[in-house]
Amino acid sequence: MTESDRIVDADANNNEDAADMTLRPTRLADYIGQDALKHQLAVFIQAALARNESLDHVLLYGPPGLGKTTLAAIIANEMGVHLRQTSGPAIEKSGDLVAQLNELQPGDVLFIDEIHRLPKPVEEVLYSAMEDFYIDIVVGEGPAAHPIHFTLPPFTLVGATTRAGLLSAPLRDRFGISMHMAYYSTKELTQIVNRSAHIFGLTIDAQGAGEIARRSRGTPRIANRLLRRVRDFATVSGDGTITQAVAASALTQLQVDDLGLDTLDRKILHLMIDHYAGGPVGLKTIAANVGEDEQTVADMYEPFLMQRGLLMRTPRGRVVTPLAYQHLGLTPPSHNMDLEV
Ligand SMILES: Nc1ncnc2c1ncn2[C@@H]1O[C@H](COP(=O)(O)OP(=O)(O)O)[C@@H](O)[C@H]1O
Ligand SMILES: [Mg+2]
Repeated sequence: MTESDRIVDADANNNEDAADMTLRPTRLADYIGQDALKHQLAVFIQAALARNESLDHVLLYGPPGLGKTTLAAIIANEMGVHLRQTSGPAIEKSGDLVAQLNELQPGDVLFIDEIHRLPKPVEEVLYSAMEDFYIDIVVGEGPAAHPIHFTLPPFTLVGATTRAGLLSAPLRDRFGISMHMAYYSTKELTQIVNRSAHIFGLTIDAQGAGEIARRSRGTPRIANRLLRRVRDFATVSGDGTITQAVAASALTQLQVDDLGLDTLDRKILHLMIDHYAGGPVGLKTIAANVGEDEQTVADMYEPFLMQRGLLMRTPRGRVVTPLAYQHLGLTPPSHNMDLEV
């Protein structure tokens, strides 16, 4: 299995975008969860509208699939302006950024996804654009080179990144509003599943929605994906209604267990327990044994296992917790017990 076919991968899959579009809430009021962040944002938007100003620049950071892109579109919508969307890797040269900025009308939102991946020279052009709405660039080469000064309309930059720490300090400092996206509770994910089921015209009961929510790793994108897969099972082997029994059986067949772990997550835990007495084990060893690269294991598997309290990072390596033994139906060795504190 590669990371891209993982059903519990929080990153978007290629064929998912179309389905995603219909499921995206377009108003702040329809955006489920992230309550503190939502309330603050509502105040900032209302104030900017009342003063007839553009909204301050917004930085959204948090793991994939939690609703950053969705929120950027909602901000533009609530402000009643256009949304222009691009990403760090798509902007290779300063000229690419200038082309984007050049299209902006007063108040518009420019959304830059994966903003930590902007090339440094591009980032430097962005500083004055964000701070004082102008850019100075040099066009032409050699003796023909000359500086050009562009003034820009006031606009709002919305930047998204998986970790705020990945951003350079000068860039981070230019965002007036910086918001951390947290994992969703099962209750919130249940609401999201119900909402999506409603949009798809599915019949689902409260326990069915709860079962999908519980296995979704705190991530709306995964909740929506699991719902689509469970729907297939309900259509083929049931009467189309998603009950807890249907959801549980479908997800078990898809190898997503009741904590949301998939085969590879369990393989990592089993490897550490069966061959390394629960650890400490180095990242390199784990990656080599499960056939993934180190970066993938560190970024895609470990954070969730740690969040669930199944794995810990220590200076000497990775260690499984007694909870991991329990989850796999094994008895933790007694010397591991001191990790429980
Ligand atoms: N708060 C939310 N309420 C309802 N659905 C959401 C919410 N956040 C995300 N989603 C759903 O999850 C999917 C992934 O969200 P997205 O904004 O693409 O995440 P990110 O940009 O952080 O990776 C969207 O298609 C949307 O349908
Ligand atoms: Mg996104």
